[in-house]
Amino acid sequence: MENYQIKKTDDGSNTIYSSLFDSTYHSIHGALAESEYVFIKNGLSIANENGFNKLEIFEMGFGTGLNALLSCEFATLNQIEIIYTAIDTYPLPQSIIDNISKNNLHMSILNTPWGTVYQLTKHFSLHKINIDLFSFLHQNSKTFDVIYYDAFGPKSQPELWEDSVFEQLASILKPKGVFTTYGSKGSVKRALLSSGLEVKRLEGPPGKRHMLMALKPNLL
Ligand SMILES: C[S@@+](CC[C@H](N)C(=O)[O-])C[C@H]1O[C@@H](n2cnc3c(N)ncnc32)[C@H](O)[C@@H]1O
Repeated sequence: MENYQIKKTDDGSNTIYSSLFDSTYHSIHGALAESEYVFIKNGLSIANENGFNKLEIFEMGFGTGLNALLSCEFATLNQIEIIYTAIDTYPLPQSIIDNISKNNLHMSILNTPWGTVYQLTKHFSLHKINIDLFSFLHQNSKTFDVIYYDAFGPKSQPELWEDSVFEQLASILKPKGVFTTYGSKGSVKRALLSSGLEVKRLEGPPGKRHMLMALKPNLL
């Protein structure tokens, strides 16, 4: 358990420090602020403007389940159905899960079993898969309306920021789909562009200059 430590971030929300990756799970300038801004405001909300009543989300890096929680709340608020697939190679230990949040819905999300599709609320079903990104991309045949790319940064895991990863992710995005990440590497922007997506480098969340958001044209 000494591999993980719960830490308070600048907006009062919790994140985790992982000594395995020498990295925090969110920005220390505000975990909640970062998730709301990068994944909900510049990801899910944009996809929801298409007016579909059902959205399929893929999240790389389930971690503390914060993005899943915010997406579940968004589904209820906006009365849309969300089917949420999240992968993680290293699910958090129960001792950390038990102490990361006091929110009941968040606790349910964290305690939902891995490897099965679970209808959590009227509007939200969750499929957590304990798998590595590369294996997932190799065996997956589904496409998604929204992709949240929430890997640890390129310093901790450079292999997760290679061009080929983003080319494969672009191919599993549906037409009109939205890809979003807190990362802003030039090579990532170029890989998404060369895969046919329209890429925007936006102002970043608190403490970060930029982030990337990309849209798949309808006809691609
Ligand atoms: C930045 S954290 C994700 C934060 C998370 N989205 C949240 O809201 O708490 C990155 C996550 O990616 C997971 N991870 C690391 N390498 C991975 C890989 N190759 N495939 C899938 N998940 C991986 C880590 O275990 C960690 O949970």
